[in-house]
Amino acid sequence: MSAMAKHWYFLLLFVLLSVEVEGKPAATKVNINREINRLLNITDMEKKFDSLLQSLVVNDPTLSAFKSEIMKFINTFFSFKSLRPQIVEIYRDLYTSSDITGLIKFYSSSLGKKFLEKETEAAVRFNQLVQKKLQAQMPQIMNWFQQMFYRNLANNQTTYGN
Ligand SMILES: *[C@@H]1O[C@H](CO)[C@@H](O)[C@H](O)[C@H]1NC(C)=O
Ligand SMILES: *[C@@H]1O[C@H](CO)[C@@H](O)[C@H](O)[C@H]1NC(C)=O
Repeated sequence: MSAMAKHWYFLLLFVLLSVEVEGKPAATKVNINREINRLLNITDMEKKFDSLLQSLVVNDPTLSAFKSEIMKFINTFFSFKSLRPQIVEIYRDLYTSSDITGLIKFYSSSLGKKFLEKETEAAVRFNQLVQKKLQAQMPQIMNWFQQMFYRNLANNQTTYGN
């Protein structure tokens, strides 16, 4: 090989290597985005997201009077579909691609499917538990808040008085 040919050979090798290095992460990124979308689909994330937003609206008596308007607003500006790219990005920040693969495998298994099903039921029961506890202990809770408020007030007056 002449010196000139050698020069071109190394230049070509260099170009190929840098294409390889730059090309790989891009391909991996597309691939992991597809896998995260698959994970969001098998875990029914859209439904969970919608029911979370809905329960926030329905459980608030002030908001629930405007339920249909608020749901329209949410669907227009905060739909899962419109937020999906950002949601995928959050998952990409939090998990590695092998985590995602493992999660897909788990949620596709019969135990994973059972977990998804029971998790919804568990969330409903946790909510009931908190509501029940709040109602049962309302006097103690109010008392606790009052004491905290007066302690803060007393502390602040001492601070400003000095
Ligand atoms: C996930 O679901 C969305 C909406 O139904 C669909 O457009 C998309 O092709 C699905 N993606 C995968 C990877 O399953
Ligand atoms: C006391 O001061 C703290 C800090 O400045 C403030 O956050 C708090 O609201 C004050 N509490 C009351 C009861 O004024």
